[in-house]
Amino acid sequence: MFLTEPVLTKRIPTWPWADPAERVRITGEQYIKTGGYEALRKAVAMDPSDVIQSVKDAQLRGRGGAGFPAGVKWGFLPEPDGGRRYLAVNCDEAEPGTFKDRLLVDFDPHQILEGIAIACWACRLDTAYFFLRGEYRHQADTMRMAIAEAYELGIFGPQGLLKGAVDFSVDCHLHRSAGAYICGEETALLEAIEGKRGWPRIKPPFPAVKGLFGRPTIVNNVETLCAVPHIIERGAEWYTSMGVESTIGQPASFGTKLVGVSGHVNRTGVYEVGLGTSIKDIVQSNDYCQGMKGGRAYKASIPGGVSMGVLDTSEFDAALDFDIGRKYGIMGLGTACPIMFDEGTDMVMVARNIARFFKNESCGQCTPCRDGSQWVYKLLLKIERGEAKARDLDLLTEVAGSMGSMPGTTICGLADGTSWATRTLVDKFRSEFEARIAPTAARAAVGSTS
Ligand SMILES: Cc1cc2nc3c(=O)[nH]c(=O)nc-3n(C[C@H](O)[C@H](O)[C@H](O)COP(=O)(O)O)c2cc1C
Ligand code: SF4
Repeated sequence: MFLTEPVLTKRIPTWPWADPAERVRITGEQYIKTGGYEALRKAVAMDPSDVIQSVKDAQLRGRGGAGFPAGVKWGFLPEPDGGRRYLAVNCDEAEPGTFKDRLLVDFDPHQILEGIAIACWACRLDTAYFFLRGEYRHQADTMRMAIAEAYELGIFGPQGLLKGAVDFSVDCHLHRSAGAYICGEETALLEAIEGKRGWPRIKPPFPAVKGLFGRPTIVNNVETLCAVPHIIERGAEWYTSMGVESTIGQPASFGTKLVGVSGHVNRTGVYEVGLGTSIKDIVQSNDYCQGMKGGRAYKASIPGGVSMGVLDTSEFDAALDFDIGRKYGIMGLGTACPIMFDEGTDMVMVARNIARFFKNESCGQCTPCRDGSQWVYKLLLKIERGEAKARDLDLLTEVAGSMGSMPGTTICGLADGTSWATRTLVDKFRSEFEARIAPTAARAAVGSTS
């Protein structure tokens, strides 16, 4: 399901883009010359509730990981009461393997700002915070310049939303993260913007009701917001003509998706495809990944950031859509940024490496996550070094299983990530884990008979 024309990346040269010297930001002036901010002009001529309805009709689902329908989330906001209302834009992007939002910031920041402006108009939000991953230093400069231009162009500020055409104004601020993965979780992000430690909050209340500074707040991913101007410009029917219906009774997967591919492929990068395109097609396409590196065989992939779990060798043709979790026994589509592994990959090492990330990034509030992630890491390290006994593997699956199987025992989804990553790797590549245990077990057996 490749696209006949790119949507979010239509102004972006897709290759080469990784070279910092090649990063040429589209300025506000260039953006306008190529039709930019026309969707905002159209939106402010509409009633805000009609804008929300268009996003609902397009069935746009969040691109930050959970896939929650954006229009439905916007509909949860209470009626304006004269007090402040916020938009928090999630560009934390700190999950290993995920680097799709960076492309949008690097090249087309005004597309994001147009999405922000339309969302604020539709939801009557007067202040937007653009929350940017701490390590994205170059991108901070890019966003700062673009926001300043948007003020000058009459998008933000008192004479904003297209030069004071409407009796409503929006301010937009850049907020750089101090650099912890957990700050990408929506309520930790709100705490961080408030200047506190990035600790997720217990929900409910949900941010739409009580978010930033206790006020109604919408949290959306960058890619989600970038889809909004296109939906307003070309309509919900056009948007739902891309992507796929669900085959298992879930909400559909419509629209396009940025897919960031890393790992053992010939050409890593961010590619825009229709939802429902298979990993195999993207990897084998000459326009995209140009095959597995060095012609080696595909072994496995992690399709949506390391927290989502792994697909095995027989699941190469899995379609990247929101059904993927239920169909392939993983957590979900996540960010749709596959990490590819070839036949030479040591899956025990992969599991240990991921566990190391999660134990370092646990914020420590909940016992199953804080202690469980340490435990999982230590057990995997033991297995990797060939020092584990058979019962350690059972213990590993028990500890990892308990971290993700009891709703309400942890505050946020980071513990589920540790659980899904570990469980699916052990389940789908069990023989590799057992093989690491065998020498010790064999030695023990020899010892007991002699
Ligand atoms: C540990 C953790 C990290 C997350 N990191 C991000 C992130 O970097 N970017 C993002 O958009 N969403 C991230 N999310 C999901 C957000 O909590 C939230 O669902 C999302 O920003 C909502 O936007 P959307 O509905 O537009 O997808 C993370 C969630 C968890 C549990
Ligand atoms: S699940 Fe982990 S990261 Fe999330 S709040 Fe609890 S301890 Fe912190």
